[in-house]
Amino acid sequence: MTLLGRLAFAAGALRGLLRPGVAGGAYTEQDADPRERRVPADPRAEALVAALLVLAGLLAAAFGVLIAVDPQTQLLGLTFGLALAALAAALIVAGKRVVVQEIDVEPRKPPDPADDERLVAELRTVGEGISRRRALAGAAGVACAGLAGAVVLPITALGPSLDAAPDKTPWKRGRRLVTPEGRPLRAADLVLGSFASALPEGADKRELGSPVVVVRVDPGTIRLPAARRDWAPQGILAFSQICTHAGCAITLFRYPVDEATSNGPALVCPCHYSTFDVRRAARPIFGPAARALPQLPLAIDASGVLVAAGALSGSVGPSWWGVKS
Ligand code: FES
Repeated sequence: MTLLGRLAFAAGALRGLLRPGVAGGAYTEQDADPRERRVPADPRAEALVAALLVLAGLLAAAFGVLIAVDPQTQLLGLTFGLALAALAAALIVAGKRVVVQEIDVEPRKPPDPADDERLVAELRTVGEGISRRRALAGAAGVACAGLAGAVVLPITALGPSLDAAPDKTPWKRGRRLVTPEGRPLRAADLVLGSFASALPEGADKRELGSPVVVVRVDPGTIRLPAARRDWAPQGILAFSQICTHAGCAITLFRYPVDEATSNGPALVCPCHYSTFDVRRAARPIFGPAARALPQLPLAIDASGVLVAAGALSGSVGPSWWGVKS
């Protein structure tokens, strides 16, 4: 028996039970036969059901898109709720105006096998009143696909964000460094031992790859890899501000007054005190971070403003964002 058949059978049985005088056994063969079978064939109702099913599917699909684009928006609840409401409305209209309505009352007597066969034969024809079967089936498919996606997609919240793309940052050759207030950062703004936060000019400040820390140390003490020899003009170095342990912003710079009695210059993360040796390409020397901060190669333009000489040297942020080394 098809799903529609089962629904019709269940609805008929329920209506029979609720009908006064029938459930109590008052009907006899002498009464007028109350059986009725309506086959509505209402194309407008079918079109309405199809439209509501498609609407449910589209709203559920919008829910999936929102999860990927903006997982925090309150529109998530609105779209999913409206999708369920549209589905419920479609089922109500289908139940009342599309699916065959049948009343079948029988006198109480021993069941006749022939009656059973007749009932089965009638149930096999319950779809006769539906003239737009394919349209309704397609609309139901849209609704099912959308709602299935809406149910499955929230599972992605258990893993990394869909928009986490640690390898893509706004930094590229020639992009000027600006202060958080938007003022171009000049090499002369940084004295020996100073520290500044900087952003790429004109880029989205909220991107994780945007913020860098800029420090100035004695150029004679810098020990960068050979490939990075010219990345620190006048002893000025820049690194991603996002800690490679758990993604906190690095806001501390330790610079010794007397290195003979103190530790050397280092960036320190305030969350769990991971410490990065800036003179050796920000490799971690203390704390839980296991990976160096990505370095931004620097240059100084003709007006003395610091500019990026290329992209960041590696992926921004914690290793569990997909960075393997
Ligand atoms: S987040 Fe920086 S040390 Fe943990």
